[in-house]
Amino acid sequence: MLNKFIFIAFICSTISLLTTGHVIRSGDKIDLNAKVNFDLKDINFGDNITYYSYHIHTYFLQKNENQVTEATALRSKFINQFEVDSCNAACGTWCPKICHWDLNMAPAGPHPIGSWGIYVPLEQVTETISFISMYHGNLTILVHPNSGQVKIDHLINGFWIKSILPLDGDELPDTEPIPPHGH
Ligand SMILES: *[C@@H]1O[C@H](CO)[C@@H](O)[C@H](O)[C@H]1NC(C)=O
Ligand SMILES: *[C@@H]1O[C@H](CO)[C@@H](O)[C@H](O)[C@H]1NC(C)=O
Repeated sequence: MLNKFIFIAFICSTISLLTTGHVIRSGDKIDLNAKVNFDLKDINFGDNITYYSYHIHTYFLQKNENQVTEATALRSKFINQFEVDSCNAACGTWCPKICHWDLNMAPAGPHPIGSWGIYVPLEQVTETISFISMYHGNLTILVHPNSGQVKIDHLINGFWIKSILPLDGDELPDTEPIPPHGH
């Protein structure tokens, strides 16, 4: 990275010298045909990615009675607080309103231990993340965006409260279709 920066700075100052009329001495070695490879794939800034919604996943050790009790109590509190209905099966990247999935009492999909999940529309991201960050107790939380790029959303751009769990990326598709969205 530093090398690249120095190289680019060198090329820029060279071009600047040329255009402002400074002389290049005969001993200077400059290959003006050299390709400057900016490696655009490494630059995500400016990529056309839209976050349509977020998911909140709460994890618990499904064989630990205390954790199960804590997780189910938190789930009930969350559902009451935000008046959350059950999600329909198709609800992933975009749904009309906040909703919950079934409680997973075993590893499920990418989730390595017991879990419960909530679909959160963008308008409710702040209040729901505030709530879960206050009351997560002993439980680990994943909040991830939904852009349609499922692997990136879960494995790279999500954020964790308390600990980081290894998700099973093989259980995730690369992408999922973005349904028509709007209110
Ligand atoms: C970005 O993606 C959206 C949705 O896929 C598309 O409608 C839009 O035209 C894209 N914008 C650019 C600048 O590529
Ligand atoms: C977290 O775990 C400790 C130790 O098991 C327990 O005393 C405490 O009540 C738990 N916190 C919550 C919010 O359940």
